[in-house]
Amino acid sequence: MTTTNWTSIGRLDEIPKQGARIVLAGKMKIAIFHTVEGEVYAIEDRCPHLGGPLSQGIVHGGQVTCPLHNLVIDLKSGAAVGPDDGCVHTIPVRVDDGVVSLDTTGVAGVRAVAATSQCAGDSKAA
Ligand code: FES
Repeated sequence: MTTTNWTSIGRLDEIPKQGARIVLAGKMKIAIFHTVEGEVYAIEDRCPHLGGPLSQGIVHGGQVTCPLHNLVIDLKSGAAVGPDDGCVHTIPVRVDDGVVSLDTTGVAGVRAVAATSQCAGDSKAA
């Protein structure tokens, strides 16, 4: 049986479209993105290239471009797009009555497997 721990982090209308908000979960910085289409994704705010702040990148469609060296990350899968390699961890996110919540249950686990596994997960809000 899987247990979830949904943590409310604020209202969706406080995150501008094509923008991001950062929250801390333990030592992990999580960037919550709000796309122009109204979708919401949460990924670790650390570029797999050299650790750039993805939350400060340019959001286009369901992707974000890192502000440092332009690596493109798919917000749903966390994987680098195109010829680049790498991925970031995704965090489950949902929106209920305009309130954004993250499933922080897996955050510690995500960190534990980060060095040995492929990035996985689907953070798209329902
Ligand atoms: S740190 Fe993100 S592309 Fe280099």
